[in-house]
Amino acid sequence: MYIDDPRHHGLRFNPWKAIVVPRPIGWVSTLSREGVANLAPFSYFNGVADFPPMVMFAPIGPKPEGGAKDSYANAIETQEFVVNMVTWELRERMNLTSAHFAAGVDEFERAGLTKAACVKVKAPRVAESPVALECRLVTALRLPTDAPPIENNIVIGEVIGIHLDERILTDGLVDIARYRPMARLGYFDYACVNSSVTIPRPDLNPMEVAAELDELMPGGRVSG
Ligand SMILES: Cc1cc2nc3c(=O)[nH]c(=O)nc-3n(C[C@H](O)[C@H](O)[C@H](O)COP(=O)(O)O)c2cc1C
Repeated sequence: MYIDDPRHHGLRFNPWKAIVVPRPIGWVSTLSREGVANLAPFSYFNGVADFPPMVMFAPIGPKPEGGAKDSYANAIETQEFVVNMVTWELRERMNLTSAHFAAGVDEFERAGLTKAACVKVKAPRVAESPVALECRLVTALRLPTDAPPIENNIVIGEVIGIHLDERILTDGLVDIARYRPMARLGYFDYACVNSSVTIPRPDLNPMEVAAELDELMPGGRVSG
């Protein structure tokens, strides 16, 4: 079949969110101007650059009661946010934090999660998450919409510090079987990423391989 107009797909459910999969889930923690912590999951999320590392997430507004999503408002207001990675073990608590709580509600408390301090940003991170990315706002974009009042936003941040639980490492590599990140599929479906295969690139020379892996070499970019 060919879907000429994605808005009129003719299927029982819109296939769109089930097509670009799997998506990682960025669990974004922020702090409001009044100092209330906020936590919400975003699967329109990804890493978008290496030097420096940058991430994006897309808060689509408005909230049911009107106004921008709290994660968006707080990131713009404070110019910073934290992305906590969601593991399979955290799936239920992640889901709980997606509920439409009022702006003054602390989702950490509602989901029984522990706040841990960050180093360079004021927002707390999720202590239970093995990876947390401290981010400084780079820019926010407003994309077009064809269904107002829906607002399509993209928030991009530079990763200025990484909390990495060494229990997910094996020989200095992130071990996917230990990490077990959760991935969003379509509808209300998810996957646990816990296995991998290694496929070397067909035509990279040793320098290109080193650059791809950003190897820690004496005198190299990372160590130097
Ligand atoms: C797995 C998952 C992924 C989600 N991804 C997004 C997303 O990419 N963009 C978005 O606007 N909302 C997304 N949501 C819904 C938000 O988490 C939800 O609207 C939340 O209440 C926003 O909270 P906030 O107002 O505190 O920012 C997602 C929910 C779940 C469960």
